Amino acid sequence: MDRFVIQGPTPLEGEIAVGGAKNAVLPLMAAALLARGETIVENVPDLVDVRFFMTILEELGARCVLEKSQLTIDTTNQDGCSAPYDLVRKMRASIYVLGPLLAYHGEARVSLPGGCAWGPRPVNLHLDAMQALGAQLDLDEGYIVGKTQGRLIGTRFRFEPVSVGATANVLMAAVLAQGTTDLENCAVEPEITGLAEALVRSGAKIEGIGTTSIRIEGVREIAPLKHRVMADRIEAGTFMAGVAMTTGRVTMTRVDPAHLRSVISVLQDIGCEITEDHDLITVEMDRRPRSVEVVTRPYPGFPTDMQAQIMAVCTLAEGTSYMTDSIYQDRFTHVSELNRLGADIRLDGSKATIIGAGQLQGAPVMATDLRASAALVLAGAAAHGTTLVNRVYHIDRGYEKIEIRLAALGANIRREAY
Ligand code: UD1
Repeated sequence: MDRFVIQGPTPLEGEIAVGGAKNAVLPLMAAALLARGETIVENVPDLVDVRFFMTILEELGARCVLEKSQLTIDTTNQDGCSAPYDLVRKMRASIYVLGPLLAYHGEARVSLPGGCAWGPRPVNLHLDAMQALGAQLDLDEGYIVGKTQGRLIGTRFRFEPVSVGATANVLMAAVLAQGTTDLENCAVEPEITGLAEALVRSGAKIEGIGTTSIRIEGVREIAPLKHRVMADRIEAGTFMAGVAMTTGRVTMTRVDPAHLRSVISVLQDIGCEITEDHDLITVEMDRRPRSVEVVTRPYPGFPTDMQAQIMAVCTLAEGTSYMTDSIYQDRFTHVSELNRLGADIRLDGSKATIIGAGQLQGAPVMATDLRASAALVLAGAAAHGTTLVNRVYHIDRGYEKIEIRLAALGANIRREAY
């Protein structure tokens, strides 16, 4: 296993190119199953999760090549319909293959994903919507076994609560259904919009893109997708939080500021100077952070995927900050680890009270999820002394070579095997 050794504190200075968005790539990869031929996705980050999804697609009979940020998925001979437990249990987003398999092949056998580091994370909406589209679903020894009689049939379905994953899955399924599907209370995350736009360019008929009401007119077939993945707003936000924590001045390039409104606004409240220019964001911080009160919400609200990183910033703030996660109420594995670095965070249900400390002190820490681990890396860069972030595996799922890129900005961080 690898870990990061971080010596802090160091300010961050310079320029960093933001990579393609993990959460945009994964549904696009699943959408390749809706067509025959070569899907080409550009600006794809080389992440453990992307490589992992490639393995699932290969298990289903597709051929995948990722080279120089271009991912080619050839489905010419793709005929498998079974995603086994050993693969699905490692990544919940594997459930994305359910909709495309049912829509294209009329059958699917997909292991039911388990819980995860921050709670049960159900998939009931994915299943209910597939049934509404006419699929017959059974549970067999931990597998969702689905069948259709002919094509899926257009339907009306309302998501409650709003779900990014279920919206993407059902959108993909409905593209090849017979008749019209009306989806209500859809997620409006940019990654969903990107997926819908890519599907439309391949021949899907979708109205209401970017709104909570999406209408899909089913078509018999679509062409393989050709799409360039948007910038990863969470990766950008993570680096921005890093500047807020360590001080300095960093310009994020190849980023879309429009996708970061809520994050920019919180960072401005914290005290960062932020300037934007087309696809650039510059963050400057020369003071101790101010305390803030943040509640995570579906897009365009403040993302749950930035909760841990902003909480790390708040540990250094003047005054007391409050952070509530309204989406994943127990997504707080970072709290006890940040406290090991000298933070004073108290948890009451889904609300954390963060009493700002003047400084953090390095220590060995580890986390069991991606964003929590990123928060610990930022905290390590701001803490005095040496921080060891164990189980770097989680970070590699969602950030490409984060230690090399942070080191280029001046952080004293290196990877070592242990
Ligand atoms: C996606 C993101 C993840 C992000 C999350 C919320 C990907 C690969 N992952 O996860 O990084 O943290 O959105 O922005 O894009 N729910 C149900 N039933 C369901 C599905 C969801 O009750 O069938 C609930 C969940 O428990 C949660 C809420 O809906 O409370 C939102 O979850 P959802 O948007 O589905 O998250 P994911 O798509 O899994």
